[in-house]
Amino acid sequence: MPLDPLYLTTAIEAVVKAGELQMAGFGKDIRIDKKGEIDLVTEIDIAVERYFRGLIAERFPGHAVLAEEMGGAMSPAGPCWIFDPIDGTTNYAHGVPIFCASLALEIDGVAEIGAVFDPSRGELFTAERGGGAFLNGRPLRVSSVGSLVDALLVTGFPYDVHTRIDEIVGLFASFIGRARAVRRLGSAAIDMCYVAAGRMDGFWEADLAPWDIAAGGLIVAEAGGAVTTLAGAPFSSRGRSVLASNGHLHQAMLDVVGQPPAWRRPQRTQ
Ligand code: IPD
Ligand code: CA
Ligand code: CA
Repeated sequence: MPLDPLYLTTAIEAVVKAGELQMAGFGKDIRIDKKGEIDLVTEIDIAVERYFRGLIAERFPGHAVLAEEMGGAMSPAGPCWIFDPIDGTTNYAHGVPIFCASLALEIDGVAEIGAVFDPSRGELFTAERGGGAFLNGRPLRVSSVGSLVDALLVTGFPYDVHTRIDEIVGLFASFIGRARAVRRLGSAAIDMCYVAAGRMDGFWEADLAPWDIAAGGLIVAEAGGAVTTLAGAPFSSRGRSVLASNGHLHQAMLDVVGQPPAWRRPQRTQ
């Protein structure tokens, strides 16, 4: 059955409005609280999520919402909107203009629509399952880079990084020792959209929530890329870990994940 066109229109309206609210508070003296030792929430995260919940309640009262700040059922049946009101909150709170709103519509657990809006650059990434991925209406395609040494990779670190530093930095070291360069932008949704756009060739991260990756996963797949967990299992927005690539690099990246980090490998003797 074809998807109701109002779904995509609503997704675009929501992330663009979220971007307006984000920009209105950006760089201002806003309230910032701590959810954990290094995990922040601003009054704008809350305001954007409230706006979004109001929009869905009014337009699609039977639909579920799962969003970062006020939660929701993890795997409801039927349509579920998965929303991150600000992906890149640490950047946002520090005045760094790398953040976005990320929104996906899943129906019975399958992503049908993804929309990510970066208001600092005016970039709207969208995808519909089977319909391709777009940046401001122009079709997106992943890169054709075929070897890690020619690849620009991107990653992120989870908020419990302080408690698992060896594992996280070990994998970072393994990739940085093989790739052209590795970046850490601070927004998993933007990271994945950049893989879809061919700006980055691959992305990995060890522990993410559905609202970080539901939209990005669909956008990468629809741009011709590959998306799995770090163990190589099929991508799921509930899968926690993510490896997204242009496809050509996917096996090489999985191989790196499967090897012990550089400093744990036995040294060659002369
Ligand atoms: C975070 C960002 C960051 C990633 C973290 C996420 P938030 O989301 O996507 O890049 O490394 O794991 O939690 O907290 O800014 O919405
Ligand atoms: Ca996030
Ligand atoms: Ca967030």
